[in-house]
Amino acid sequence: MGFYAERILPHIIDKACSVGQVMKLRGRLVPRAKGIVLEVGMGSAINLEFYNPDTVELVYGLEPSRGMRLKATDNLARSPVAVQWLDLPGEKIPLLANSVDTVLLTFTLCTIPDHQVALQQMLRVLRPGGELLFLEHGEAPENPTQKWQHRITPVWKQFAGGCHLNRPIDQLIEQAGFHIKELENFYMPSAPQIAGYLYQGMAVKPDPAQASD
Ligand SMILES: C[S@@+](CC[C@H](N)C(=O)[O-])C[C@H]1O[C@@H](n2cnc3c(N)ncnc32)[C@H](O)[C@@H]1O
Repeated sequence: MGFYAERILPHIIDKACSVGQVMKLRGRLVPRAKGIVLEVGMGSAINLEFYNPDTVELVYGLEPSRGMRLKATDNLARSPVAVQWLDLPGEKIPLLANSVDTVLLTFTLCTIPDHQVALQQMLRVLRPGGELLFLEHGEAPENPTQKWQHRITPVWKQFAGGCHLNRPIDQLIEQAGFHIKELENFYMPSAPQIAGYLYQGMAVKPDPAQASD
């Protein structure tokens, strides 16, 4: 891993991902996690402060970047919940099938190289009826924003750690086999529109025993 990716990028990502508006959104979503939780792309562990220790048993923090794990040190020291690092990518989740109650995904699906495989892995480890909580930025619904997202992404991802501006988050989640039950889409007011179209919601892993899911 290069100097930029290991020493500089983690600080930039940590700053960009912890602005006030984003923290408010995290504060609405993360406390809904319960039981055994898998957080995919835990980054600098900004979400940790929002987990509810009364409802969360353990958080598996999956994060392939050594630089990001290092940047997480302070947040980890203050964590209200037990955390176990998994230093692997989302495409290789080393957990048993149906073994987690909640998967948390914040600002990560944009970056995972093989998002299809990673989402299939998340579906595999989530128990039937378990919840995928997500807060992601992605493809905007209209032009010219969408057009610029597609144009800029090839360059943007070179210096933004592989981040794609143009992924249709809800479609990718549904295509993987999740059932989206809640979805809110909106622009974050303080962010440039190309990087600020958000997808926030909850999807479940269908439970064959519950026909109505
Ligand atoms: C923009 S950061 C978001 C970090 C964190 N989720 C947050 O909300 O602050 C994207 C994260 O995805 C991680 N990442 C990159 N490739 C990944 C992969 N294949 N599987 C899982 N995470 C990955 C990066 O290392 C980085 O920590």
